[in-house]
Amino acid sequence: MACLSPSQLKKFQEDGFLLLEGFFTADTCVAMQQRIGEIVAEMDVPLHCRTEFSTQEDEQLQTQGNTDYFLSSGDKIRFFFEKGIFDEKGNFLVPPEKSINKIGHALHAHDPIFRSITHSPKVQQPHFGGEVSPHQDATFLYTEPLGRVLGLWIAVEDATPENGCLWFIPGSHTSGVSRRMIRAPSDSGPGTSFLGSEPAWADNLFVPLPVRRGGLVLIHGEVVHKSEQNLSNHSRHAYTFHLMEAAGTVWSPGNWLQPTPELPFQPLYS
Ligand code: FE2
Repeated sequence: MACLSPSQLKKFQEDGFLLLEGFFTADTCVAMQQRIGEIVAEMDVPLHCRTEFSTQEDEQLQTQGNTDYFLSSGDKIRFFFEKGIFDEKGNFLVPPEKSINKIGHALHAHDPIFRSITHSPKVQQPHFGGEVSPHQDATFLYTEPLGRVLGLWIAVEDATPENGCLWFIPGSHTSGVSRRMIRAPSDSGPGTSFLGSEPAWADNLFVPLPVRRGGLVLIHGEVVHKSEQNLSNHSRHAYTFHLMEAAGTVWSPGNWLQPTPELPFQPLYS
């Protein structure tokens, strides 16, 4: 990865995010899309696994956090769906390829295309994703001391305000972490709970960040961001994962994502 220029670094430090246009070629994006098409075509979703994904706190507790499907997905390729895409019998109401909010969390480990793009970073939560309500990544991926997790978000297709691009509150990465999702010990109660709460961020604080296909967005672990539901006719595929600074930090044992014997975190540099 090429170094950032001083002005790019300054902008990242001020805003908490930075867009690098044209970081990946169109061919690379097409390869990712084709591979996702194949993965979705082969998808066989058991009824009990039809878990909806949302960062709304209540729904998270009810659907993700309390389900083994989510908590044990860190080293697997699993599917999380948009709301309202199943009927009461669990049948798809929309074409399966339009039903998915996110595919996670180990595309980088199990698929050669995504492995080559992810390039073995230290900590990963890779997924193909859709609508996400306002949050800081540090709510879910927490290191001590703070500020050592970096999100990378790749626009596999053009992302616009109409089809669900990212929105940021510039400079919000300097105010600390509002809430944390804590994983319960494996032998006790509900899977996760929250410490703190997400403030009711005013809509007018957010600015959209349209990205053309191939653009890369760097996301500070504590900047507040979201993506809106895609209500347009244009899909908006993105591939995202996270890097952690390992030197001098501790990966929180409360994080939902933990390395496993089958899939330990891999160093980007060794
Ligand atoms: Fe995020």
